[in-house]
Amino acid sequence: MFQIPEWDLHMNAGKDEQKILKTVKDKSKRIKPMKKSTAKKEITPLLHKKSKQKLKAKKNFIKPVDVNTDTNSEATRKPVKSNVEDMPKVKSRKRPITLQTLFLKAEKRKKLKDNDFIKKSAYDFNLTKSKQKLSLREQMLQKLKSARFRYLNEQMYMNVGKDAKKYFDNDPNAYAAYHEGYRQQVAKWPVNPVDIITRKIKKLPQTFVIADFGCGEAKLAKSTPHTVHCFDLVAVDETVTACDMAHVPLEDNSVNVVVFCLSLMGTNIKDYILEANRVLKNKGQLLIAEVESRFEDVEVFIKNMRSYGFVNKTKDFSHNLFFFLDFVKKSAKTQNNLPDINLKPCLYKKR
Ligand SMILES: C[S@@+](CC[C@H](N)C(=O)[O-])C[C@H]1O[C@@H](n2cnc3c(N)ncnc32)[C@H](O)[C@@H]1O
Repeated sequence: MFQIPEWDLHMNAGKDEQKILKTVKDKSKRIKPMKKSTAKKEITPLLHKKSKQKLKAKKNFIKPVDVNTDTNSEATRKPVKSNVEDMPKVKSRKRPITLQTLFLKAEKRKKLKDNDFIKKSAYDFNLTKSKQKLSLREQMLQKLKSARFRYLNEQMYMNVGKDAKKYFDNDPNAYAAYHEGYRQQVAKWPVNPVDIITRKIKKLPQTFVIADFGCGEAKLAKSTPHTVHCFDLVAVDETVTACDMAHVPLEDNSVNVVVFCLSLMGTNIKDYILEANRVLKNKGQLLIAEVESRFEDVEVFIKNMRSYGFVNKTKDFSHNLFFFLDFVKKSAKTQNNLPDINLKPCLYKKR
């Protein structure tokens, strides 16, 4: 193909085109490629302007000159010793620890120690298992089990005993599900309250008759040589009588000890205390173990128990999470003019 040489282009271009060509030529003359070394020099100060400033500040700090002394003297050549406070302060990335931060941390620790510890530990078994790389199906099943346990637990705290009994009568599997969750929870506690109660019972004369109200899996009966009457909403085996503990099949004044180990659930606690009063012999013992955070004011609880015929003998607050209160029956009581007895429910948060 026929090609037009470059110079010919200039010659053949019209006035406008020539103008454009000239401008391009002029501009390209002005743009000089930078030498490598200069390019670096020009860019570096821009990039490190801040760090250079810091360096300068530090240098100034290291070599302050005492202006009052002779410029040739030793003092001017040597850096003057200075205070640490004079150092230019470099911003620390860490947030300063204020009193408020310390307070909040302490509060958080305390809360964990309290009921939250239980809430936390209740579902820890899910986490532990998930760490062992459970399949998705297993993880889902664990979540369902936890949700079911939380639901059943809540039902027992938010309803009267007889309604909880009806619920378990209609769904016997639910009770096994509750106790599976409860067992997992106990495994995380520093102490199982029923073990402490068992130790107390073992010290009592073997002729003493015990009634375990809300016995669960009847651990107490299995660990002591005493006669223990076990009552719960569902009977896990033949040693347990299924009933609402507001009405147990025992004679009046027939037992030496009544135990409520974490079993004062339900909104009708006063019915359970009155039932304990009925079946206990005079001077019989009532042993209560409960989650510490359920008490709004434990002294009010103790005072109200007097109205139900019970005098407090010992109160043990030394165990993390749990209170142990021992009472003695001083008089028989019936329903009339008694103050209500309420404890906060022990609910578990979803994790
Ligand atoms: C947290 S578990 C403790 C079980 C056992 N005392 C222990 O320490 O291992 C509470 C038990 O009280 C029982 N319970 C709650 N309300 C009851 C009621 N109204 N009548 C009988 N049992 C009841 C529950 O079914 C549950 O088994």
